[in-house]
Amino acid sequence: MYPYSHEPFTNFTEEKNIQAFKEALAFVESELGKHYPVIIEGESITTEEKIQSINPANKEEVIGSVSMANQELAEKAMQAALAAFETWKTWSPEHRANILFRAAAILRRRKHVFSSYLVKEAGKPWKEADADTAEAIDFIEYYARQMLSIKEGVPVKSRAGEYNQFNYIPLGVGIIISPFNFPLAIMAGTTVAAIVSGNTVLLKPANSTPIVAAKFVELMHEAGLPKGVLNFVPGSGAQIGDYLVDHPKTRFVSFTGSREVGCRIYERAAKVNPGQIWLKRVIAEMGGKDTVVVDNEADLDLAAASIVYSAFGYSGQKCSAGSRAVVHQDVYDVVLEKAVALTKTLTIGNPELQDTYMGPVIDERSFKKIMSYIEIGKEEGRLMTGGEGDNSKGYFIQPTIFADLDEDARLMKEEIFGPVVTFCKARDFDHLMKIANNTDYGLTGALISNNREHIERARQEFHVGNLYFNRACTGAIVGYQPFGGFNMSGTDSKAGGPDYLLLHMQAKTTSEML
Ligand code: NAD
Ligand code: ALA
Repeated sequence: MYPYSHEPFTNFTEEKNIQAFKEALAFVESELGKHYPVIIEGESITTEEKIQSINPANKEEVIGSVSMANQELAEKAMQAALAAFETWKTWSPEHRANILFRAAAILRRRKHVFSSYLVKEAGKPWKEADADTAEAIDFIEYYARQMLSIKEGVPVKSRAGEYNQFNYIPLGVGIIISPFNFPLAIMAGTTVAAIVSGNTVLLKPANSTPIVAAKFVELMHEAGLPKGVLNFVPGSGAQIGDYLVDHPKTRFVSFTGSREVGCRIYERAAKVNPGQIWLKRVIAEMGGKDTVVVDNEADLDLAAASIVYSAFGYSGQKCSAGSRAVVHQDVYDVVLEKAVALTKTLTIGNPELQDTYMGPVIDERSFKKIMSYIEIGKEEGRLMTGGEGDNSKGYFIQPTIFADLDEDARLMKEEIFGPVVTFCKARDFDHLMKIANNTDYGLTGALISNNREHIERARQEFHVGNLYFNRACTGAIVGYQPFGGFNMSGTDSKAGGPDYLLLHMQAKTTSEML
C-alpha cells in the first residue's frame, strides 16, 4: 500500500484531457433519462413515486429519475441494515478497507464520467466537478488507511498479571443524509467512513442530486460491498428523514446540510423512543458565514483574488464560501475596486463549456432565496456589480458584490448560499477580528496579511474550524486540511481528519487476568 497522497486535479490545458472530458460528457448525455431504483439488501425496487433530477443550467433537460422510498421501504431498509450489521461488523478491517481501495480504483478510472454527471446534475463547471470527484477519491483512500491505522486500538498499560486492551468497535446502523453541493464527495465520504468502520447504513441523498449518488451505490457494489451494508433510500426529508432519525434502531446519524435541518435532526435524535437502548450519536456538518479578512499590510491583488475565488467558486454554493470580505479602512477602496474588476472578467453560463467559470445555482428555490437576499442587499449596501438573475432557461445569477455593509447587516450574518459577497470596512486589526467573529457560525475564514504579529493573533482569536492565511477560504484537501466548523456550523467534527472515523465507533476496554 502506497502512502496517502491527494488525487491530483486534472490539467485542463492539456488537449488529451480536454478530449477525454468531452467524451465523458457525451457518454453521460447518452445515458440521460435513465431510472434508478431504491436499493435494499442489493435488491432493486422501483416505486410509483419518483424524483426527477433536472439540469439546473437547462431546466428542460432531465438527467434521470430515482424511485422514492416511503416509510415502509425505509423500515425494510432498516431491517436489512440491522441484519447485515451482524456479519459486516465481524469482517476484518483489512477486508473492509480492501473494498474501499477497489472502489477508489474504479472511481479513478471513471473519473470524468462521474465529473460529467456533476456538471449535468449539479451545474458544476469542469474544474469544480473534477475537484469534487478528486475529493471523493481522497475520502475513500484516506478513510481506508485510517481504518487500518486504528485497527489495533491504542496501547494502554497492564499491571503484572493482567492484559489490558483498548479497541474500537462499530456502532450499528447509521443514517447518512447528504447535501446537494458536494453530491459526490460529501455523499461518498460520509458513507464510506461509516462503512469502513464496520457499520451498515441507509443513504438518503439530496433530492436535487440523487443520480450521482445512485451511480456511486452501483460502484460500491461493483467493488464487492456485501448486500445490505449500503442501502439506498432516496426520499422526502420530512417523510423518511424524520422517520429514520426517530427510529429506535438508528444508532447514529451523519448529516451534512443546512443549519435548520441539522438542528431539527439534533433535537429529534436526542429523544429516546420506545424500544431504544442507546443515546443516538449525531454528526452534523452545517452552514457557514465565512469571511476573508484583509489587513492593511497585505498583497492587495492576492486579497482581491482570494475574495473573488472564495465567493464565486461553484456560484457561492459551498459551506466554505467566503461570503463576507472584511477589509481594513486603509486598503478598503483599492481591494474593493480590484475585486469588482476581477469579478467582471468571470465567464458565467453553461458549465458544459470548458471556459465557464460559474454556472447556475441549484434550483428554483435557491434562485428565489438568493434573489431575495440581493433585494435586501440593495437596501443594506451599495451594489457594485451583478445583482441580476435569469431563470428562463436555467438558474443563473450574476456574481454580485455589495459594498459598505454595516457589520450587523443581515447580509453579513445570514447564509445566502449563492454568488453574493458583502464588503465591510474595519477601523483596525481589533475591529477586523471582532467582525470576523460576529456570526453564529464558525466554519472557515482567511486572513490576508503580511504582518506576522497579526497572523499569530488571528491564529488565536479568529474562531473558525478551518483558518487559512494568504489564500482563499475554500478548497480544503482530505488528509491535509481536515474540514469542519465550530458553533452553529456543526458538531465540531473534522471530515478528512485523523479522528473522523472514531465518531462512528465506540471504544471497548478488555482486561484479562493472566
Ligand atoms: P438541506 O439541509 O436542505 O438538505 C440536506 C439533506 O437533508 C438533504 O438530503 C435533504 O433531503 C435532507 N433533509 C431535509 N429535511 C430533512 C429532515 N426533516 N430529516 C432528515 N433529512 C432531511 O441542505 P442543502 O441545501 O442540500 O445543502 C446546503 C447546506 O449544507 C448549506 O447550509 C451548507 O452550508 C451546508 N453544508 C455544510 C457542509 C459542512 O461540511 N459544514 C458541507 C456542505 C454543505
Ligand atoms: N472541502 C470543501 C471546501 O473546503 C467543502 O471548500
